[in-house]
Amino acid sequence: MHQIDGKTRVCGLIGNPVEHTLSPMIHNFLADEMGIDLAYVPFEVKEGALGEAILGAYALNVLGLNITVPYKSQVIGCLKGIDPLAKKIGAVNTLVRQDGGYVGYNTDMTGLRRAILSQGMKIKDENVILIGAGGAARAVAFLCMEDGASHVWILNRTLSKAETIAGQLRNAYGKDNVTVLSLSDYDKIPKGKYLALQATSVGLKGKSDMAAIEDDAFYEMIHTGIDLIYNPTNTKFMRLVNSHGGKAYNGLMMLAYQAIDAFELWTGISISDEVTSRMLEMLSEKTAQ
Ligand code: ATR
Repeated sequence: MHQIDGKTRVCGLIGNPVEHTLSPMIHNFLADEMGIDLAYVPFEVKEGALGEAILGAYALNVLGLNITVPYKSQVIGCLKGIDPLAKKIGAVNTLVRQDGGYVGYNTDMTGLRRAILSQGMKIKDENVILIGAGGAARAVAFLCMEDGASHVWILNRTLSKAETIAGQLRNAYGKDNVTVLSLSDYDKIPKGKYLALQATSVGLKGKSDMAAIEDDAFYEMIHTGIDLIYNPTNTKFMRLVNSHGGKAYNGLMMLAYQAIDAFELWTGISISDEVTSRMLEMLSEKTAQ
């Protein structure tokens, strides 16, 4: 157990609610593994108190913060600076202390990028199918454009939400390589093999016997499927991808790498592949309980 003393640096998570977060476990594990004198704690911040909380954290010499629901967009108004990708996405999940205030980053997306690269996959020149058009899907869509996907097909139950995202992507990147479809219209996607990213909430614990699309014909088109969900660790989407010969991954790697990216930004050290594997093992055990 880490000994807290007068030199211990504090990092934390701001959100509401925060009780079910895995972030303290992850960051305190990394601090222990790397021998860094850092403690990470959850801060529940009530509606209306975000600005005070960020100013207070800065005054208390807090080294870094993660930001979660419902504050990922709102926090942008409380920053000294913002990373260009986070700015385009319009969502920040990591704050790094600098002279005069915090600078915001989106390590959810750099973490997803790193998770994909770590498995020998890529987004560049891929034809991507993105399922969902909520907050998480929106960020993934920006990452796909940022990293040079060849074409992005956004499938969503509510077409208008997917259209809004597509419009924002066209504006931000000046390209017309995004197509929007309803969930049942996947057969309009040209024949081929696709990288699919599952960013709906369907399949989460409680709805684990469901997938947003369940037709066999859809899964024939997928060479690799990444579900952003990590609880349960094996979702119906993943089972359907696997049973049609594709490779499937859950959201644990993305969770791990968003934390690693944040930890590296705060401390300036790099986390080795070996520590990352140990952390993934620990996370798989914890989420399986
Ligand atoms: P998050 O922040 O996790 O992205 P969200 O913004 O509430 O959460 O988005 C949830 C996503 O899951 C949306 O794409 C939503 O589809 P709609 O835009 O049509 O609401 C999708 N979703 C949720 N329940 C669904 C269901 N039963 N069937 C299909 N899609 C569903």
